[in-house]
Amino acid sequence: MNVADTEIVISLLQDSGYSHCSKMEEADILLINTCSIRENAEQRVWGRLDIFRREKRNRPGALVGVIGCMAERLKERLLEREKMIDLVVGPDAYRQLPRLIEEAGTGQKGVNVLLSQEETYADITPVRLSKNGVSAFIAIMRGCNNLCSYCVVPYTRGEERSRDPRSIVAEAEDLAARGFREITLLGQNVDSYSYSSGSRKVDFSTLLEMVAKVDRGVRIRFSTNHPKDISEKLLQTMAGHPNICRHIHLPLQSGSSRILSLMKRSYTREAYIGKVKLIRRLLPDCAISTDIITGFCTESDSDHTETLTLMEWAGFDFAYMFAYSERPGTYAAGNLPDDVPETVKKRRLREIIELQGDLSLRSKRALMGSCVEVLVEGVSKRSQNHLFGRNSYNQVVVFPSAGESPGDYLNVTIEGYTSATLTGRRTGTANSTGSQ
Ligand code: 5AD
Ligand code: SF4
Repeated sequence: MNVADTEIVISLLQDSGYSHCSKMEEADILLINTCSIRENAEQRVWGRLDIFRREKRNRPGALVGVIGCMAERLKERLLEREKMIDLVVGPDAYRQLPRLIEEAGTGQKGVNVLLSQEETYADITPVRLSKNGVSAFIAIMRGCNNLCSYCVVPYTRGEERSRDPRSIVAEAEDLAARGFREITLLGQNVDSYSYSSGSRKVDFSTLLEMVAKVDRGVRIRFSTNHPKDISEKLLQTMAGHPNICRHIHLPLQSGSSRILSLMKRSYTREAYIGKVKLIRRLLPDCAISTDIITGFCTESDSDHTETLTLMEWAGFDFAYMFAYSERPGTYAAGNLPDDVPETVKKRRLREIIELQGDLSLRSKRALMGSCVEVLVEGVSKRSQNHLFGRNSYNQVVVFPSAGESPGDYLNVTIEGYTSATLTGRRTGTANSTGSQ
């Protein structure tokens, strides 16, 4: 989501006559787009600001700006602690950036962290940062109304707003015309996408179908689904369109119903299992990945075991796993004790990562000998003679190059795997997408 936002910021600034450069030493304005989701994300930003401070000492004329979630959350602290910061701009105020930069140029601080109920940047064509020219993001909504008790997002990104589907389809058409071959629709909870115009209401399934029909040679992905909201209708839409990738990111967070209730996730262990069964029934050939938070308030060893057993049962293909990080201002920070000792959080996280390592290998092993469709993204980092791309399940596949180009769809027979990648051999050109 932050990459997608950065692309919007670059576009807005280009419209005002600025140009984007990638080397800090060449920049007149240094902007850092920030994330507040866990404490260590913020720590990394403070570290980066140390580098900016040194740069500014060498070039006092340069402007430094903090944008995004940390700007929203820590406006005062940023301005107090880092005297060199000239701009503090929240996620809904990017249109103001050109004006705020002008102000900052005259020695004032340029600050705007107002959140909006309407801003979706629907009319802005993002400047694509993707180097391969193959895959692009489209943000379909902003903000979140779910108020999970651990999460800072509803406070830093504001209330949920859905973008006009016509602007989304137009953006997808533009990407397809420019040769992009994969589009990922982004929202904090795509299942609650909803846009009404007159008597017509567009939900996420309808939007997904509209985007999938733009060009059958363009693959569609989306993220993130919410287990409480993901619907049969969405799965049927996926089943009806081979160019919608067979992958669902369905954050579990915890396998214990007691912890899920404290997290205010609005589903139980059993309900989550029910959603996975529904996916398996309607889309037997669909990868499922997840997010897990370990060591949440009051989590016991038996709660932790419930997470492990559910992971094992679901056989997740991939997972993002985190130790709980208390975020100021959230319901959990104010009302629940962060009482799992750091050493226990770390041990449980290790156990979860280890189990997921096995599950990820199992998921790759299951593909041995089969043929998958791969969208080529570029040359492998490890070897000039190999290319890499992704299959429909979002797994990276590496194979010997025979002069193919980024954007080509190929059939690759899987012959090996490591924890991170599948390896294989090309067995043909795929002329449709999403076959496997
Ligand atoms: N501590 C740890 N992980 C968190 N996430 C969100 N908030 C926190 C927190 N306070 C994780 C969740 C979410 C992912 C984007 O980040 O797993 O799905
Ligand atoms: Fe945070 Fe929950 Fe919204 Fe995800 S759904 S962004 S975890 S509040």
